Amino acid sequence: MIKKEIEFMSVSFLISQAKSVQKVIDENSAEIEILDQKIGDGDHIFNIQRGLKLVVELEDAIKDLPLAKALNMIAMKVLSGIGGSSGALFGTFFMTMAKSSDLDKDVDFNKACEMIISGIKAMKERGKADVGEKTMMDVLLPVSEKLNELKNESEFKTGLNEVIKIAEERMLSTKDMLATKGRASFLGERAKGHIDPGARSSQLIIDTICKSVINN
Ligand SMILES: Nc1ncnc2c1ncn2[C@@H]1O[C@H](COP(=O)(O)OP(=O)(O)OP(=O)(O)O)[C@@H](O)[C@H]1O
Ligand SMILES: [Mg+2]
Repeated sequence: MIKKEIEFMSVSFLISQAKSVQKVIDENSAEIEILDQKIGDGDHIFNIQRGLKLVVELEDAIKDLPLAKALNMIAMKVLSGIGGSSGALFGTFFMTMAKSSDLDKDVDFNKACEMIISGIKAMKERGKADVGEKTMMDVLLPVSEKLNELKNESEFKTGLNEVIKIAEERMLSTKDMLATKGRASFLGERAKGHIDPGARSSQLIIDTICKSVINN
């Protein structure tokens, strides 16, 4: 019952989530910048903030569009407007979600999970990183697995609380990993002792969206 009253993947949902995520990322920008200065080239926070700004600025252009078209426009903006690995990876995420079937019908919780799962799968194919390589995939892949279990669960709020926990644990787990993908892989043992910046930003995004859905 509750599920039907909540918008899970409408265009207005996407815009409002982008705004909430923007606020949380801004609040944590100093931490993410320092993490990327330690093991990357320091631009990850800039890439993420620019991507969010571009998406939020799309509001007027996409608010009356069908979901598939809006997702495509977001994908194009992210792909063309953000540099680095993040632009290609998140652009792929939105592009893949835009290709989901039946987007002209209401998207319920199960469908939203399916869309996110397919988006994360495409990111994995694009970046060729798996769990244990000290990237954002260390957070996103376990989250995707959990969403796959939840798809048919009637009590999704409990499930999303578990998603929040998994994302946090996996983000923290990147601290002691050696990096085998991305710039951090050039550092060898020196990458150890620092959380991966992409894992931290992804975890914050997941945390914000899950909490917003739970408290809706
Ligand atoms: N092949 C990959 N697959 C998935 N995520 C990756 C990959 N390479 C890097 N990342 C993630 O991207 C983050 C860095 O994003 P950023 O936007 O700074 O891109 P970048 O500077 O081109 O990438 P990098 O510094 O990793 O070469 C890393 O913290 C990591 O989580
Ligand atoms: Mg970088």
